[in-house]
Amino acid sequence: MKIVVIGASGTIGKAVVQLLKEKGHEVVGASRSSEPSVDFTDSSSIDRFYETIGEVDAIVTAAGDAAFVALEKLDDAQIQLSLHSKLMGQINMVRKGLSKLRPNGAFVITGGILAYTPWPQTSMITMVNLGLEGFAKAAALDLTEGRRIVVVHPPWVAETATALGMDATPWPNAAKVAEAYLAAVEGNQNGVPVFVEGYDPTQAVQ
Ligand SMILES: NC(=O)c1ccc[n+]([C@@H]2O[C@H](COP(=O)([O-])OP(=O)(O)OC[C@H]3O[C@@H](n4cnc5c(N)ncnc54)[C@H](OP(=O)(O)O)[C@@H]3O)[C@@H](O)[C@H]2O)c1
Repeated sequence: MKIVVIGASGTIGKAVVQLLKEKGHEVVGASRSSEPSVDFTDSSSIDRFYETIGEVDAIVTAAGDAAFVALEKLDDAQIQLSLHSKLMGQINMVRKGLSKLRPNGAFVITGGILAYTPWPQTSMITMVNLGLEGFAKAAALDLTEGRRIVVVHPPWVAETATALGMDATPWPNAAKVAEAYLAAVEGNQNGVPVFVEGYDPTQAVQ
């Protein structure tokens, strides 16, 4: 399959690109600093990007920011960032990518496990992640000719936890997280959230 990965230079994106290539897929990795580049917060940048890549079998986004901030400190700019980057950026990649996705192709977008297990200071992240899940759930009903959309909800990634000075031991590394993206690309789920194996909050032991 020919697969676009947005966020290809990121912690998750790099591992996703590597795994997809190992599985024999042709991968077009992109971000704001790639060639061709795409900034998914900029509508015309998305249009230009899609004009260059032609038709593909999957469009994966593993990128986008949302504010990590306590409610009482949350300001207008942080709300705008959260909506404009991680939420609208990915939605616009899907919306504008419709004509580029071949029949039976898949959109894979990225939320995060905080959708299900929020922490303090994550009102924006949790809102965006659940917004993406809601978008995928309903957008799936509009897709035709076998096209699918799936939201992957990664848990904390060990490499990220380490970089943030957190205890990384409870979390999977990026290579393990990438397996959920591979399953989303190659599987047949539509409109549903996909979790990293062993990190499904809906299966949590009480
Ligand atoms: N890492 C985690 O623990 C974790 C856990 C759950 C969910 N997530 C979610 O997973 C996604 C990826 O996380 P990550 O940790 O892998 O991020 P990361 O390491 O910061 O990498 C972000 C990637 O996205 C690209 N990017 C950023 N803004 C972009 C834009 N406006 N348009 C196009 N590309 C853009 C970056 O490249 P350029 O700078 O070149 O554009 C880079 O390739 C995020 O949405 C994050 O919320 C991450």
